[in-house]
Amino acid sequence: MEKQIKIFDTTLRDGEQSPGYSMNKPEKLQLARKLEELQVDVIEAGFPIASEGDFETVKKIAETITQSSVAGLCRTTPIDIETAAKAVEKAAKPRIHTFIATSDIHMKYKLCKSREEVIESAVKGVEMAKSYCDDVEFSAEDASRSDPEFLYQVFEAAISAGATVINVPDTVGYALPWEFGELIKGIRENVPNIDDAVLSVHCHNDLGLAVANSLTAVQNGAQQIECTINGIGERAGNASLEEIVMAIETRKKNMNFSTNINTKEIYPASQLLAQITGKGVQPNKAIVGDNAFAHEAGIHQHGVLKNPLCYEIMTPESVGLTCNKIVIGKHSGRFALGKKLEEMGYDLNKEDLNTAYQSVTRLADKKKVVEDHDLVSIISMMNDQPAPEPQKIASGG
Ligand code: KIV
Ligand code: ZN
Repeated sequence: MEKQIKIFDTTLRDGEQSPGYSMNKPEKLQLARKLEELQVDVIEAGFPIASEGDFETVKKIAETITQSSVAGLCRTTPIDIETAAKAVEKAAKPRIHTFIATSDIHMKYKLCKSREEVIESAVKGVEMAKSYCDDVEFSAEDASRSDPEFLYQVFEAAISAGATVINVPDTVGYALPWEFGELIKGIRENVPNIDDAVLSVHCHNDLGLAVANSLTAVQNGAQQIECTINGIGERAGNASLEEIVMAIETRKKNMNFSTNINTKEIYPASQLLAQITGKGVQPNKAIVGDNAFAHEAGIHQHGVLKNPLCYEIMTPESVGLTCNKIVIGKHSGRFALGKKLEEMGYDLNKEDLNTAYQSVTRLADKKKVVEDHDLVSIISMMNDQPAPEPQKIASGG
């Protein structure tokens, strides 16, 4: 039996916090609805104390969403907690997510607090949050750079104070997968009441290791992963939801985990975020990039056209795309060109296909990608092949 990992989406909070990604209320609401269709377990809707607008948006999302839990972030100070509690109070499944930093560097320079003072703030914060809401998540900011022995004490105290979820952030994306795995294992072994809470991780991508760290964490006993659509988030971003979910799905037999995500909504969610923020996804981005299911090289095209499994480890349909993309460029071969032209409604004999192929490769030397309309021109110039009816021209390629 696979162990189900909870997916906590923070696109609307950590993701929205990053430069160029701020969204207004209707946009966040639209994305929250899409996250619910995606079936994420938790939607972190914002940081209600940050602004009046953020408060109103979290409140609206809390009033609208019925299936996923809706979380509001707050520090451990009373005014933050009260504001977050008010913002999520109407949610079908409300969660207050409170945090304080536990690393020596953050305690000394940012908080100017001793270890004792930090434990006291954590406990008071969780107790206060609990007085408003049953579901309370506690995060130890910069956990991966904190003294593990201190972290164990803070977590034990937070759980005793009522925390239902304990989150371990790699706030600055510093951890290496094996270190982070050890940290999670250490927490499981050394926090006596850890079984009374869900153990969560929140990894940043400063070294490009956020997904690897999150997966290593679940192998070592974490039960919730915090992540974002398209991997957006502070600096280099957070662990990407689509990569986490599809790694778990594609390598299910190896990992023995599952999620509740409706994977067919992954691509639509990624596109919606890109459209709302005006920030496209890099073409080579795993799962949702333009090239994730595109093939230009002749050998690859031949293989994929014979059997997609030659070069695809998951189907494009499984993430909500209609088909893969055969791109005609200078690396393409005759076989793919023939298939492409056939799809477009042309029926070429071997000799004509050869002629077309020569023209295509000449054009591809000058142009990065040969588009459908280029192919139409090439074939029309070969005289005896009139252009097919426009409706017969396949658009996706
Ligand atoms: O990166 C981080 O530490 C955070 C916490 C507030 C969870 O975003
Ligand atoms: Zn973060």
